[in-house]
Amino acid sequence: MGSHAPRQRPGWAIFDVPKIIWAVFILLGCIATIPPAVIYYARTAPKVEPRIHLIQNMDNQPRLNAQQTSNQFRDNRAMRQPVAGTVARGAMVDDTHLWLGTVDGAFATTFPDSITVDHALLERGRERYDIYCLPCHGVSGIGDGPVHKKAMNLLENGTNGTTWVQPRNLHEDAVLEQSPGQIFHTVSNGMNNMAGYSAQIPVHDRWAIVAWVEALQVSRNAPPEHVPGADDFKQVVRTAADAEALSEPAADPAAHDHGGGAQ
Ligand code: HEC
Repeated sequence: MGSHAPRQRPGWAIFDVPKIIWAVFILLGCIATIPPAVIYYARTAPKVEPRIHLIQNMDNQPRLNAQQTSNQFRDNRAMRQPVAGTVARGAMVDDTHLWLGTVDGAFATTFPDSITVDHALLERGRERYDIYCLPCHGVSGIGDGPVHKKAMNLLENGTNGTTWVQPRNLHEDAVLEQSPGQIFHTVSNGMNNMAGYSAQIPVHDRWAIVAWVEALQVSRNAPPEHVPGADDFKQVVRTAADAEALSEPAADPAAHDHGGGAQ
């Protein structure tokens, strides 16, 4: 007894367990960190082999990838040519006039036989144009749609790089002289910075849009005899020179009515 008696720590009996128990606890604690560490490693470390994948189902099967070689074939290519005469889905072009806008390899100068250009087609074309083309080319086709305006805005603020290709003015001579087939081709396949729409717009609607683009073009340069009621007016204002020529005050209001769209 005396000075070698164990010190009493009332209320802290838990600390009185033998050292061996402590050792076992600490060891178990260390071992317990191994599974999470392994899981963490398995989930984050890059590996070439597939990760642990107990239930395979049909997830991993032997196969040849595109551009690989394979000595199963005489030419050592994994990629095979389609059987002769195969036609991709949606690529059956029986009527090139309708599907490609070409006749004998040249852009068609007329609408295909299966498309009737009537009021209903124009209405459809206007609606589709307003959805797909107006954002860039503008309601009248002069290339001033909201996308263009926004892009110019961003350009001026310096937040949109330094270049922007303005959507084409569809009333430029270079576009005016294009045949329906060529416009159909542009709508279908795009041009430079403009994307093609063959995947989004069915073929009939693309022709309807072509009809509407032509209607917009005609409306810009319509001769007075094609404009109902135009006989009442002496001249339609198209240019500043036209406006100057109309010096008589009586003719002014009429001229403005008709020239509004062409300013
Ligand atoms: C995202 C903007 C955008 C949309 C949407 C768009 N265009 Fe364009 N379009 C352009 C641009 C830009 C050009 C000029 C391409 C160039 O010269 O790089 C162009 C050019 C054209 C041309 C002139 C082609 C030529 O030969 O000069 C036609 C015609 C045309 N578009 C018609 C249409 C029609 C019809 C639609 C709707 C189906 C449409 N575009 C939708 C941006 C657009």
